Amino acid sequence: MNLTEQQLEQFRTEGYLFLPELFTPEEVAILSVEANGIYAEQRPEIWREKSGAPRTAFAAHTYNEAFRLLGAHPRMINPVEQIFGEKLYMHQYKINAKSAFTGEVWQWHQDFGTWARDDGMPEPRAMNIAVFLDEVMPINGPLMLVPRSFTGGTLDARHDLETTSYPLWTLDETTVTRLVQEGGIVSPVGKPGGLLMFHGNLVHGSAGNITPYPRKIVYLTLNAVSNYIRHPTRAEFIAHTDFTPIETVADDALVRYARSFRQAAE
Ligand code: SIN
Ligand code: MN
Repeated sequence: MNLTEQQLEQFRTEGYLFLPELFTPEEVAILSVEANGIYAEQRPEIWREKSGAPRTAFAAHTYNEAFRLLGAHPRMINPVEQIFGEKLYMHQYKINAKSAFTGEVWQWHQDFGTWARDDGMPEPRAMNIAVFLDEVMPINGPLMLVPRSFTGGTLDARHDLETTSYPLWTLDETTVTRLVQEGGIVSPVGKPGGLLMFHGNLVHGSAGNITPYPRKIVYLTLNAVSNYIRHPTRAEFIAHTDFTPIETVADDALVRYARSFRQAAE
């Protein structure tokens, strides 16, 4: 799958691109079941909210077959290779729960700010991908993006170690207000299976979820291989140091996995 010139232009000017229902209900259903199984495990890669509800499961592609297949899926890898013009490796892999009633805020931030400061990533040549595992609605803590906010480069930020269980380089209110006056705020919503890609310097965040509807989203960061991180300081399962180029799996790999999983359960 390749992006059209119009889609490339949207990414270049706005800093994001939304592809609704890129993955089928059958493909997403198996990922959702597996994500809930992962959250029930006790392992260091799973971080929890202060309430104990899961917040994020890191590196699931390294210990779960369905998420390994998603991380090498051609419907996602090919368009990003097209944009960067080179092979990719997985810099980070998270399944963010934003659980019903308890999912907490992600403050306004740019991801490249963290990759550069904490991981020594040279350039913002890494793509953020969000794959919706649940329906993302205006009410259950959708990701909010500030269109065009990537054009000012990496902005001053404060290392917030208190607000949530996840340390983050966050932006101040004056900066966010100025960027929102210029670009507004969008929050792409839709059925499970939607895919959103956004620039590493695009400002984003999300509010808490007090609804009964969980909002699981897989976030993958695909880094151009030549842009590998130079000074890792975080755990390997948060910022990977395996720079092996991703080789794509077959387009029907997730469907085949879902069917074999169902057969084994019968
Ligand atoms: C992130 O910015 O990495 C996560 C945001 C979210 O899950 O809403
Ligand atoms: Mn982020």
